Amino acid sequence: EQNRTSLIMIFGATGDLAKRKLFPSLYRLFSKNKMDKFAVIGVARRALSNEDFQRSVKESVISALGNKENLDEFVSHFYYQSHDVADSSSYVSLRKFADQIDENYELEGNRIFYLAMAPEFFGPIALHLKSDGLTDVKGYKRLVIEKPFGHDLESAKELNQQIRSAFSEKEVYRIDHYLGKEMVRNIEVIRFANAIFEPLWNNRYISNIQITSSETLGVEERGRYYETSGALRDMLQNHMMQMVALLAMEPPISLTTDEVRSEKVRVFRSLRTFEGEEVKQYFVRGQYGEGTIQDEKVPKYRDEAMVDKESNTETFVAGKIMIDNFRWAGVPFYIRTGKRMATKSTKIVVQFKDIPMNLYYQPEKMLNPNLLVIHIQPEEGITLHLNAKKAGGHLDAQEVKLSFANTGIHAMNTPEGYEKLLYDCMRGDATNFTHWDEVAYSWAFVDKISEAWEKTKAEFPNYESGTMGPKAADELLEKDGFFWWPVTDLEVDICK
Ligand code: BG6
Repeated sequence: EQNRTSLIMIFGATGDLAKRKLFPSLYRLFSKNKMDKFAVIGVARRALSNEDFQRSVKESVISALGNKENLDEFVSHFYYQSHDVADSSSYVSLRKFADQIDENYELEGNRIFYLAMAPEFFGPIALHLKSDGLTDVKGYKRLVIEKPFGHDLESAKELNQQIRSAFSEKEVYRIDHYLGKEMVRNIEVIRFANAIFEPLWNNRYISNIQITSSETLGVEERGRYYETSGALRDMLQNHMMQMVALLAMEPPISLTTDEVRSEKVRVFRSLRTFEGEEVKQYFVRGQYGEGTIQDEKVPKYRDEAMVDKESNTETFVAGKIMIDNFRWAGVPFYIRTGKRMATKSTKIVVQFKDIPMNLYYQPEKMLNPNLLVIHIQPEEGITLHLNAKKAGGHLDAQEVKLSFANTGIHAMNTPEGYEKLLYDCMRGDATNFTHWDEVAYSWAFVDKISEAWEKTKAEFPNYESGTMGPKAADELLEKDGFFWWPVTDLEVDICK
């Protein structure tokens, strides 16, 4: 489907996500002529005039992208409706307003409902959209829904039921913004478009895979949400598991949404599960203490706003994921993610097995294993670590790096991920959104871990802010004879 004519209704239009990501992304699509006929209705509680709203849209675009061309024309497509999410009559006026805009702009009854608000409203809004007639349109209707998709498998099921009573699975676009990142999308291309990787992409040649997604930020103003979530639900259940699936899946027979998703689901179905005491062998949790980030003293998690003084919430998680299938049996996927770590970085390191015998052995210098590093952010690129002869001299081997830098710019904080996802949604391509089955399997996996953790009080805080996490996260690899490749030593050379 390529019909990009649409009425986009953003619930939560005065919120942070709308301002920082959605409006700038929509502007970029508009400026590249990637939208056909369109209008946007911003929906939120507070009373605002269309003009006020348009001004705020304009400001958010300028603050994200700088002053741009045709901004006035762009914001002239934006309308605002003050709304009470719990009140039917509010939806009825919204429906009338939407029908009117639809007619004025000839939007063919195509509708995208974007829920950029607190998760407790997702279910009720979906139900109202149906019962108050907003989904009763002659074009397509799509629901875009932010995370968190539930809090565990139970609540996710309940939410899914509410949503599915108003939208079919094909109409639900569950956002995982990592799937909008350029280099996350590149994973499959690197794997399936190169003759030199796929034959080696298995337990015969790969010793382990490491995924690090570290942040320097703390919980900022999100203490209330984060206390109920923690790193496990906030990052691992979605972003980290999605990267694992893309790295581990079998080549799909084609790139259609259904084929790609079913390969990802097969990875989730092969995850080794564990219970109770066993969890300790696979997962480590951490919570930040005081420390220094970029020369600035920062408080411990328990002293953050809206956080319990004795909070048991993890701000760091490291895990060893085993995929018990023919391709991956025996290859650990180590993952770690956390707040207030030493650096902001997302990288994937594929470590190949050692060569059978080292002819170039020198007592003081062992040969490095080959590494394929996929740099997700802030730099975007690929490096392949090889061994080659040192120039001149004898037959000494040294490590050399082949680098490809995707762009010279830092991709972080750009709205690009959302731009791609919004574009996909308008085109009706759900490949880079998470299917219910993926959500359900990854919750089932994560629930085992949180159940075990909730039973015991952790010894928190257990890592200093500005470090790479607790010691136990290092030991997790050491006991298998590995170590975390230090992300700061793996820089990709930026080509100008
Ligand atoms: C979000 C989490 O999904 O991802 C945040 O809720 C986290 O806690 C963010 O900071 C990280 O995203 P990115 O794109 O900065 O790596």
